[in-house]
Amino acid sequence: MGNARFIPNLIVVVLLSSFEVSFSRKTTTNINTDQSALLALKSHVISDPQNLLATNWSTVTHVCNWIGVTCGSRYKRVTALNLFGMNLSGTIPPHLGNLSFLATLRLSLSGNNFMGVIPSSLCSLSKLELLGLSRNNLQGQIPVAIGNLSSLRWLYLMYNQFSGSIPSSVFNVSSLVQIVLSHNQLIGSIPSQFGNLLKLEVLHLGVNSIYGTIPPFVFNSSALNAIALTANRLSGYLPSTIGFWLPKLEILELGDNELSGSIPASISNASRLSFLSLGSNSFSGYIPIDLGNLRDLQFLGLGQNNLASTPSSSELSFLSSLANCKHLRLLEFSINPMISGKLPVSIGNLSVEQVLAYGCNIKGRIPGEIGNVSNLISLDLDNNKLSGSLPTTIGRLKNLQSLSLQGNKLGGFFPAELCNLKSLSYLYFTGNNLVGPIPACLGDLISLRYLFLGSNKFANSIPSTFTRLTDILQLNVSSNCLSGALPVDIGKWKVITSIDFSKNQLSGEILISIGDLRDLTYLSLSGNRFQGPIPESFGGLVSLQVLDLSRNNFSGIIPKSFEKLLCLEHFNVSFNRLEGEIPSKGSFGNYTIQSFMGNKALCAAPQLQLLQYSQQLLLPPCKANSFGKHSRKAIQLVEYILFPIGSIILVLAVILTFSRRGKRNANLPTAQENFPALAEWRRVSYQELQQATYGFSESKLLGVGSFGSVYQGILSDGLSVAVKVFNLELEGAFKSFDVECEVLRNIRHRNLVRIISSCSNIDFKALVLEFMPCGSLEKWLYSHNHFLDILHRLNIMIDVASALEYLHHGYTTPVIHCDLKPNNILLDEDMVAHLGDFGIAKLLGEHDSTIHTMTLATIGYMAPEYGSEGIVSTKGDVYSFGILLMETFTRKKPTDEIFAGEMSIKYWVKKSLPEALIEVVDTNLLNNEARQYSARRDCALSILQLALECTEEVPEERIDMKEVVAKLNKIKIKFLHESNRRA
Ligand SMILES: *[C@@H]1O[C@H](CO)[C@@H](O)[C@H](O)[C@H]1NC(C)=O
Ligand SMILES: *[C@@H]1O[C@H](CO)[C@@H](O)[C@H](O)[C@H]1NC(C)=O
Repeated sequence: MGNARFIPNLIVVVLLSSFEVSFSRKTTTNINTDQSALLALKSHVISDPQNLLATNWSTVTHVCNWIGVTCGSRYKRVTALNLFGMNLSGTIPPHLGNLSFLATLRLSLSGNNFMGVIPSSLCSLSKLELLGLSRNNLQGQIPVAIGNLSSLRWLYLMYNQFSGSIPSSVFNVSSLVQIVLSHNQLIGSIPSQFGNLLKLEVLHLGVNSIYGTIPPFVFNSSALNAIALTANRLSGYLPSTIGFWLPKLEILELGDNELSGSIPASISNASRLSFLSLGSNSFSGYIPIDLGNLRDLQFLGLGQNNLASTPSSSELSFLSSLANCKHLRLLEFSINPMISGKLPVSIGNLSVEQVLAYGCNIKGRIPGEIGNVSNLISLDLDNNKLSGSLPTTIGRLKNLQSLSLQGNKLGGFFPAELCNLKSLSYLYFTGNNLVGPIPACLGDLISLRYLFLGSNKFANSIPSTFTRLTDILQLNVSSNCLSGALPVDIGKWKVITSIDFSKNQLSGEILISIGDLRDLTYLSLSGNRFQGPIPESFGGLVSLQVLDLSRNNFSGIIPKSFEKLLCLEHFNVSFNRLEGEIPSKGSFGNYTIQSFMGNKALCAAPQLQLLQYSQQLLLPPCKANSFGKHSRKAIQLVEYILFPIGSIILVLAVILTFSRRGKRNANLPTAQENFPALAEWRRVSYQELQQATYGFSESKLLGVGSFGSVYQGILSDGLSVAVKVFNLELEGAFKSFDVECEVLRNIRHRNLVRIISSCSNIDFKALVLEFMPCGSLEKWLYSHNHFLDILHRLNIMIDVASALEYLHHGYTTPVIHCDLKPNNILLDEDMVAHLGDFGIAKLLGEHDSTIHTMTLATIGYMAPEYGSEGIVSTKGDVYSFGILLMETFTRKKPTDEIFAGEMSIKYWVKKSLPEALIEVVDTNLLNNEARQYSARRDCALSILQLALECTEEVPEERIDMKEVVAKLNKIKIKFLHESNRRA
């Protein structure tokens, strides 16, 4: 995306309290007028799936008792109508204009789907203070008569399809406090006539197509707290006095427009500014050197402009003054190639957490003082001209999680001091001139997820300590001078998805344990000196999409097991010493001759149909016993025909690759470019998600949870996904989004729902997750057209237990899920269970074993110590897992009405075991006549006994998830054994 927003957009927090207004004026209308207006609304609602209005808005009860209706205390008249999140669809009838005491009208929030236009009669509601119609499908123009709403204070029309230009009358309503019209299709310019908007605090017009210049009054309204005009087509200059008239301004978001000219130095007078985003415009000139006067500054985004640093110094002098901004969290000025210059020594005085400054032509050494920026979490200086060696002081940055210095000219050894960075997850050094061995101590950085050391001059072997990196996801050491064999126990990289060891001098054989890497999608060993056979165990790499073994000395055959790799899109074994029949099933029909050329004696079975069939003629047909007497001919063919043709194809491929590279910016290949097939955690735009879900259409709604809604969608590249949209007007939703991002960003396991992407804007936050086509365990347990037998249920429970084991024990920081229940357990097309919904998960610090919290989990599954004292620990999850086990095998919800008072599901199970087992177990599982009855009965009994061990009242007495997984596996083995024996 060319216009990527650089700064996670701050959010205009909209706090609405309910209020009641009393009135003194006498009036001729009465409550019956209100009743008929509301009944008119009811009749305009065409879909009311929960039957809320249909059953509740009945003339038998008084209007003031209707759901969503609030009446004033003095005159019993309707003062507020709050119909958000009721899943209503329909149109807004003009009759609402008769609710003459109405002060609040809210039809907003996801779930509702009001269509059509705003009836102009609404504009006669002279008492209306809040008009909230956000997140519907309203269209047409914003009525000019809206200017008549003389009491209007809050106007929320965001996330609709409003078109046309903004009527200038809006800006004549002097009572307005907040105007939020973002995420529509508004065009035209911002009206330049305006009344006295003396109270205006928030002006948010972002994500529209508004053009023209920004009228001066916007920068002249002294009450303004937030101005957000992001992602429009606004042009022109900023006034040179911009900073003088905005004493209360905290947020200024002008990113992603067509603004030009310089950034006025006066901006440093807007002293309350904490969030300044000017990225993705055409600003030029110098970055003001007094930005440090903005003492409250937290976010500064200047990326993607044509800004320069003052020429008076060879250093980036604007950085020096920023040392005064003690709250600065994010500093971003990437892709301003004119910035040039060196990093000043004073960089050590910054208090910043995140620095993004790639593509700025920064020269010289990285000053050792960088080690003093103790808050630093992430540093990205990719694609600059940094030289010299890496300062060892970086090893002092204890909080550093991401260090990216790709595409520079850094030389010298890799400093062992970097092994002190115990929080480091991302380390990108691709494309420098680092020499010497890769230090073995890197293997101690067990928090590493992404390690990119490619295209340097590292020598010696790959340290054997690397197999300690059990959480590593991507490892790239390609294009170095590494030699020696692969580390012995690479099977320990349990969750790794990508390995690139290409273009080194590695040798030896590939070990069988490679087949254990079940999440591996990308493997390149090309251009080394590996030899020996290709192990049959490759058939275990079920996720593999790209495999390149070309240009080595592999011998023997291509194992038949490759036919099982149905995801394998790119396959290359060219230029080895392979022989024998090329497998013909699986994906083999999708490959071309380039995959096989330059080998000793490969032949094509009659069944094989290569993608370009004509090429197949270049391969000798296999004969029965083709080795031996016929192989001579095959070799000749390879030497005289195949090799020259192969070389031509190869030369062409190289030319193509280079010409494509040339067109790109001079950027070095980044992780993404090396792995086109992998779903990196990229950002998606709101528009993309809107298209993917047919405009968040109700037909795509998968469910509504505590923090928002989940939609099914298909991304532009065809990927099926689930989109979780956080309802930001609900308390806790922000936190929930952040927590879920934090947790899912860092962990990966085959039984956890995988995050694909996120979308975070000023007032929209969504996560894009792997879509689980088979739905939730809840659905499978309780709907009548689904059935799970005992083995299915046991497998699902083993999956969930494995996920919890990983969260509790397998990961550097224990993660507590806190909300285990059948709704949060999702099944993929193979019925493998994935644990989802990390909205209230907790991360335990290094030394904590418990924390206290206020977040509410789901009643029924909650451990007693959590409910009564808010104590969260891994033991709480164990308890919930025990309840889940009971529910799965009894098919009774812990909240079932039969459980009341003393009688909980736990007590019920406990008192029934072992004699009355069949009274509690789901009757569908223990059918007397069926085969294997006793095996199933024993199995159910063991499981429920285990469930009781999980739900011990005292947390210390509960077993842990490691033991649970072991016990469940034992139960399964015993069950399979007995049912086979007795079958
Ligand atoms: C309508 O809903 C309100 C609020 O939930 C409730 O108090 C009232 O009893 C309901 N009335 C009827 C007739 O269902
Ligand atoms: C192979 O091609 C077929 C037909 O185009 C396609 O359906 C299948 O997904 C392809 N397989 C792979 C691994 O690309």
